[in-house]
Amino acid sequence: MGIARTHAVALLGLTGALVEVEADISAQLPGMILIGLPDAALSQATQRVRAAAANSGCPLTVHRLTINLSPAALPKHGAGFDLAIALACLAADSTISQVSVGKVVHFGELALDGRLRPTPGILPGVMTAARLGHTTVMVPIGNEAEARLVPDIRVIGVASLRDAAIWHGANLPTIPVEPILATTVPSSLAAEPDLADVIGNDDAILALQIAAAGGHHVFLLGPPGAGKTMLAARLPGLLPDLDPASSLEVSSLRSLSGLGLGDALITRPPWEAPHHTATAAAMVGGGNGQIRPGAASQASHGVLFLDEAPEFASPVLDALRQPLESGWISIHRANAVAHFPASFQLVMAANPCPCGQYGAGDLSCTCPPNARRRYLARISGPLLDRIDIQLNVKRITAAQLRLAAGTQRVTSISARDRVVAARAAAAERLGSTPWTVNSQVPGPWLRGAPVRLAPACTAGLDRALERGGITMRGYDRVLRIAWTLADYDGLTSPGADQVGQALYLRKGMTS
Ligand SMILES: Nc1ncnc2c1ncn2[C@@H]1O[C@H](COP(=O)(O)OP(=O)(O)O)[C@@H](O)[C@H]1O
Ligand SMILES: [Mg+2]
Repeated sequence: MGIARTHAVALLGLTGALVEVEADISAQLPGMILIGLPDAALSQATQRVRAAAANSGCPLTVHRLTINLSPAALPKHGAGFDLAIALACLAADSTISQVSVGKVVHFGELALDGRLRPTPGILPGVMTAARLGHTTVMVPIGNEAEARLVPDIRVIGVASLRDAAIWHGANLPTIPVEPILATTVPSSLAAEPDLADVIGNDDAILALQIAAAGGHHVFLLGPPGAGKTMLAARLPGLLPDLDPASSLEVSSLRSLSGLGLGDALITRPPWEAPHHTATAAAMVGGGNGQIRPGAASQASHGVLFLDEAPEFASPVLDALRQPLESGWISIHRANAVAHFPASFQLVMAANPCPCGQYGAGDLSCTCPPNARRRYLARISGPLLDRIDIQLNVKRITAAQLRLAAGTQRVTSISARDRVVAARAAAAERLGSTPWTVNSQVPGPWLRGAPVRLAPACTAGLDRALERGGITMRGYDRVLRIAWTLADYDGLTSPGADQVGQALYLRKGMTS
């Protein structure tokens, strides 16, 4: 009778913990039991492992096998523990080397024929193993490229349980098998559309560049066909490349949701556009058993676009308030809390009324006035409060189309260079503060002595406040946008022009 142990990783949110997998063979009635808080998919590992081992030509012992996953209090999900369990069992009856399996962290789900299936969450899992000082991981061959993205750790890709057993010293001849490869779903915006496609609509084009430069959230209001969706899709292309830490985070989230990574980290900001029928769990993450990231997390360090925003259920929209505030989503379960990053840039688009024609000019609106009022009121005040840029988008006219034909239009690449420069200027100014982009800066700081603007610059804005045309909150938003305009234009601080332009960029709907 014998005992053996090896390691696997349990993920909760993006953080992982090392799990020790112990197998013990005892002389009781034959059987195989799994203890240590496994979920339903993991409890079925006993059947998968027994069948896979038999079909690989290295069957498990006929005696009683007890498998313990520790620490027992840590919830463990999914089928990614199969390989570790199978190898611990084989090592317990000395089919393979106990010393060798004890030194390696194993990942992978087994197919019944003994081949290894690619498993979600390999990147954060291998990063955890590396962080905890492990030097070798064994992964399904379909995940090998993804695991190799983690520096300073030895990665062994295996196609089947038999190959894994042979690597660990089993005395068996190799049998080549057809490996199961990962299917990589291309990221949603494979080719980023260009800003130069937008004709006319100069306000909206400027607003988009300012949103990118200052990290401001945007609300686009306008009739159908005004180009709201078209504009929003061009925002990710204006954002700078992800820095190394963000790139790892975005790639880890993608790996966790099982979409596959291929052989490179993601370096461009993601774009997520959930449909308006999305549930709260789809938006912020959740699910029973394993807690999965939602669209808001998938959009982290990129853009979350809510098209036809008033059509979303209010609880779904309100669920976004916590991540907008903190940049994180915490999902609580009775036995665990999962944290996911969710610092996205929000873009919402809406028609002005249910029929969409209000204020469009050509067709008249058929909605009763109170239906029109109720429509936009579905987006709650606290959510709108966080949106700096609120813009009316108009349909372009035939005259604008003709006029625009000959003019030079801004391309995404040239705009991105200016965005990068503007962000660098803001980061330098905010160097001694906890913030990096203008959208994060609270109002009192902007009105405080070190950066207060001269009365001559803010005269127009002060007048609007006096007349009640704008609230204090609106005042702060205008200041934030004015600073971004100054950064974008390469000025050291905003003048009356930038403040005036900023007032215009948020004349949209609320004050
Ligand atoms: N300013 C514009 N320049 C170029 N094409 C435009 C413009 N506005 C609208 N379009 C065209 O109209 C189509 C519909 O626009 P869309 O973004 O779907 O409008 P909305 O979302 O406001 O209903 C776009 O695909 C685009 O081809
Ligand atoms: Mg649209």
